[in-house]
Amino acid sequence: MKVLVTGGLGYIGSHTVTTLIENGYEVVIVDNLSNSKIEVLDSIYAITGVRPAFYQFDVRDEQKLDELFEKETPEAIIHFAGFKAVGESCQEPLMYYENNLGSTFSILKMMKKYKVCNKIVFSSSATVYGVPDSVPLTESSPIKEATNPYGQTKIMIEKILTDFAKVEGTNVALLRYFNPIGAHTTGLLGEDPNGLPNNIFPYLNKVAVGALPILNVFGDDYETVDGTGVRDYIHVMDLAEGHVLALKKLEQDCGVFVCNLGTGKGTSVLELVAAYEQANDIKINYQIAPRRAGDIAENYAGTEKAKNELGFECKYSIKDACGDGYRFQIYSLFVQRIKSKNREKEVVQE
Ligand code: NAD
Ligand code: UD1
Repeated sequence: MKVLVTGGLGYIGSHTVTTLIENGYEVVIVDNLSNSKIEVLDSIYAITGVRPAFYQFDVRDEQKLDELFEKETPEAIIHFAGFKAVGESCQEPLMYYENNLGSTFSILKMMKKYKVCNKIVFSSSATVYGVPDSVPLTESSPIKEATNPYGQTKIMIEKILTDFAKVEGTNVALLRYFNPIGAHTTGLLGEDPNGLPNNIFPYLNKVAVGALPILNVFGDDYETVDGTGVRDYIHVMDLAEGHVLALKKLEQDCGVFVCNLGTGKGTSVLELVAAYEQANDIKINYQIAPRRAGDIAENYAGTEKAKNELGFECKYSIKDACGDGYRFQIYSLFVQRIKSKNREKEVVQE
């Protein structure tokens, strides 16, 4: 089956592409590289031996998307394309609503036109549950008013896809990710954001290789196991596997399928730091800092539905994720150094 992956060169998209290819799917990627690099295609090729068809444009460009559908006739879509930084969404709400909703509208218009494409997997987030009344969070936990425009777009898109599916008979998987971390086990793919990372794992990676001096642990006075925030960290390769299982579920004509993707286990910030140190035999420089505004004490996923209805179970541990993340960060540093050496040579030759 041919699958169109929007945002397929991004962090979760690229890992999912490798898993799709390894499961025999034909993959077509569209990405405007607003938050990714073209070199990711080479890494996908190095890992899988397959170079998927790649289109570089904004998914909101309906004319280009129409041409892509005409040429490629995908039967399913995995929709990762969108902006994801919570803080930035508070500064630039319009940019977030325009991109996240706009890209979804373009895709749905194509699905309405090209009926053969009747399956869509959407990257939702545990953020839709807001401040939890209790944990674990299950798919029937209440959806709360989002505290930021990013979260609001996820709630809105879940609703839009549900309404669309009712009328068009589309099969939709709304996958609510918990906290994806780690990297491809080869170390060739991972997450290396430009500038100061917002999320803990890429921050930890940069402290580990000396690119940042110290990790700030936001708060040690929460009502948790050791006072630091607790989250459900899921290895990105397990998450990738979840998408393949979701596609198989959609092939059974299941209508709208809502599902958490997490491990079911909460890990505190200090436990994560300890796992990272153990996995890589290094010391992480950290200090306790004030709480971050808007943070919750604890969340983790209820995993019964994923297990029973998808057959989903995580294969990787937090320690695996820490080892893979570190390996990728070292590789990434190495690539950057070679690039800057090459640039120096070019300047000397000029
Ligand atoms: P990412 O930024 O690494 O990947 C998104 C990709 O989409 C990037 O390659 C970017 O260039 C591309 N893109 C963005 N807007 C586009 C557009 N209009 N047209 C074409 N390409 C576009 O992010 P990610 O971490 O891989 O997340 C993927 C999806 O999963 C996002 O929708 C995000 O909100 C969701 N999600 C992520 C997390 C997380 O912790 N990473 C958690 C929950 C949900
Ligand atoms: C955040 C977003 C969430 C989004 C998710 C993935 C907020 C409030 N939530 O989740 O909507 O879906 O990212 O993009 O922004 N921490 C530190 N030091 C750091 C960074 C984080 O101690 O430098 C702590 C946090 O306080 C938290 C834990 O690490 O306890 C995880 O934080 P983070 O990786 O940012 O993810 P979330 O806040 O869970």
